[in-house]
Amino acid sequence: MPKITFTDHTGTSRDIEVAEGRSLMEGARDAGIDAIAADCGGACACATCHVYIDDAWVDRVGAQDPNEADMLDFAAAPTDHRSRLSCQVRVTAALEGLSVHTPDTQG
Ligand code: FES
Repeated sequence: MPKITFTDHTGTSRDIEVAEGRSLMEGARDAGIDAIAADCGGACACATCHVYIDDAWVDRVGAQDPNEADMLDFAAAPTDHRSRLSCQVRVTAALEGLSVHTPDTQG
């Protein structure tokens, strides 16, 4: 299973393993990453699963889709080119070693 590092706004990191085919949000939620609220359960309808993809990974993870970009307008923390809704990022073997950062608030 791909290993993914979550780093919170204080700089504290945690490595978790997420099965291929799961979303980044599902992996974080199942591992108890508190910074991911995921209030809508992955329906791209809440923006409380906002993460910042590490700059080195932005191209490999890919761009927001239009619905996701609209929903990110409602994110509690500022968004930028690294922002993704973690429920919309599907984990694949290519994401082994991915690093993501969580915002200081989800709302
Ligand atoms: S869990 Fe609600 S938008 Fe991702």
